[in-house]
Amino acid sequence: MKATDILALKEAALAEARAADTAETLEQVRIKYLGRKGLLPDIMQGLKDADVSERPAMGRYANELKQELAALLATRRTALDNARTTSGSAAGDSFDPTLPGRWRAFGTRHPISRIIEDAIRIFDTLGFSVADGPDIETEYHNFDALNTPDDHPSRDTQDTFWLESGQLLRTQTSPVQIRVMESRPPPVRIIAPGRCYRRDTTDATHSANFHQIEGLYVDRHVSMADLKGDITCFAQRLMGPDVKVRFRPHFFPFTEPSVEYDFSCHVCGGKGCRVCKQSGWIEISGAGMVNPKVFAKVGYDPEVFTGYAFGMGVERIAMIRYGIHDIRLLYDNDKRFLEQLG
Ligand code: PHE
Repeated sequence: MKATDILALKEAALAEARAADTAETLEQVRIKYLGRKGLLPDIMQGLKDADVSERPAMGRYANELKQELAALLATRRTALDNARTTSGSAAGDSFDPTLPGRWRAFGTRHPISRIIEDAIRIFDTLGFSVADGPDIETEYHNFDALNTPDDHPSRDTQDTFWLESGQLLRTQTSPVQIRVMESRPPPVRIIAPGRCYRRDTTDATHSANFHQIEGLYVDRHVSMADLKGDITCFAQRLMGPDVKVRFRPHFFPFTEPSVEYDFSCHVCGGKGCRVCKQSGWIEISGAGMVNPKVFAKVGYDPEVFTGYAFGMGVERIAMIRYGIHDIRLLYDNDKRFLEQLG
């Protein structure tokens, strides 16, 4: 072998490397010339047998072959890589791990759901379990069994959504009291969160569809003091130890005596603000001792058992908990609003 042969081999190798148009063919060129069993190691081996006068030039050309080919292979490989990425992204199948990710917005729990979940958790610690009833109710469960007189205004079509079947959309969660007591003997300790429907004109504090949490506790010796204590305990665990609860005398056909109750306004601390309409209090709902006439309907012995019941307006609680002055904000599902409560 002569020095010119090595020069010719170098040119051939560089030409092959230039012509290679895939990473695989580039790699084949590398193996052919520079690989462990390739042509270059052969040449190096052959040097010692070559003519002494040829040897220095041969050595130089062999080195050039090695270095120039290695350099060309590296540039070609980068060029091929780049070409693949660009054409790949045009075809939509490339993935560039260095690009910043696309953020998906995190959802937040709706304030209504949060209050219901918190209530379930808090009442659970007081021994209450969760009960449920249908949104489409019978007149019996929503009114008759709850000792509501036939001529009571709440039965009127102006107040209640009646269905053609004679059923109705429940106007309160109180029918769940009846369903629970019909289905099991005392003692009973349940809460029942759910939707209610009334033909109210929507305004800042009313909605035709709203949420209540019903509570019912029946056992021997249950008293009004238990009612006030448990509601106060709930209010303070939900909103903080400064919240106060007040009872005002009221009337409900299914409780006797009955009260309406208020929470002190969490927004202004009771001083008076827009949310509580300057009164320092927010009306939550009604409560009272279960009327013995209701016990008679479900077959509980009113001589042995007493009980309390309460309703809670979830939207009302949301208004003071989050400082919302218009109930309609809770139904708009405007993310900008909901995210502020997250
Ligand atoms: N159901 C009544 C209402 O919607 C509230 C209530 C519940 C009152 C339980 C007394 C006992 O106004």
